[in-house]
Amino acid sequence: MFCKVIKLNVISKFILFFLTTRRLGAELQAKSVHCPNKVPVALFWFRRLPGGASSFFLHLHMLRAEGIKKSYGNLSILKGVDFDVKQGEIVSIVGASGAGKSTLLHILGTLDRPDSGTVTLNGTAVNGLNGNALSAFRNRNIGFVFQFHHLLPEFTALENICIPAFIAGTARKQAENRALELLDFFGLAARAGHKPAALSGGEQQRVAIARALINGPGIVLADEPSGNLDSANAKALHHLFFKLRDDFNQTFIIVTHNEDLAKMSDRVVTMKDGMIVSA
Ligand SMILES: Nc1ncnc2c1ncn2[C@@H]1O[C@H](COP(=O)(O)OP(=O)(O)O)[C@@H](O)[C@H]1O
Ligand SMILES: [Mg+2]
Repeated sequence: MFCKVIKLNVISKFILFFLTTRRLGAELQAKSVHCPNKVPVALFWFRRLPGGASSFFLHLHMLRAEGIKKSYGNLSILKGVDFDVKQGEIVSIVGASGAGKSTLLHILGTLDRPDSGTVTLNGTAVNGLNGNALSAFRNRNIGFVFQFHHLLPEFTALENICIPAFIAGTARKQAENRALELLDFFGLAARAGHKPAALSGGEQQRVAIARALINGPGIVLADEPSGNLDSANAKALHHLFFKLRDDFNQTFIIVTHNEDLAKMSDRVVTMKDGMIVSA
């Protein structure tokens, strides 16, 4: 009997601790959302975070990679890369073609595994995740934007944006409301029912960014996101990244050849032959 009481006591304390730290984590996150005039979107942006202590840590480092090495056969592509990004930072990665930028981005985004080294993202050591757990983690924590939009042609803008939310198990109505908020934020409210073929290149890329953001990821990884756009559309897209950072404290790592974007970034990391040569 006595043991049972002790057990219950320990369990209830554990539950209480879990709830308290979760709440603290959420509050810390809420403080980083400084956009009082956009309450619905700000609420949507409310990120799912683990407990309070790790959330506090996250405000310092959203992502940290240490000693990343990767080879393909005899070819050494990444030769020991250390890299970190703070929450709300926009970091550009630049360097000649073949320097290993995309390989690094794929490893940071858990799309590929390093031969050695560790990646910690949003307080989670991703090396320890496999299979469904890794897919679920990626779906909730990382948004991807590529040079080509990769929107599904048979679905509307709204449906394309909703897909990651459906995969995460979000109810249809809730996902659609979030997608509509994002479309509105991106000035695309009138395009919700249009399929990708009926959108301009700039609009397609904005829809792709909305899709990357629907699950409120801690970080967005973009690989030459404006590489396929004319200069006016590229400029508009870059300003959008900074607006997302300013309004929602969104963190970005962007591989780019665009000098204007690199100049605007908080930090530019230069890669050469599989190494970071300046940061
Ligand atoms: N899956 C792969 N198999 C073999 N070699 C690869 C593979 N992916 C990339 N590489 C090689 O790794 C090097 C770096 O590629 P990448 O990371 O795409 O460079 P960047 O994005 O900087 O242009 C290139 O020499 C490329 O050919
Ligand atoms: Mg590349």
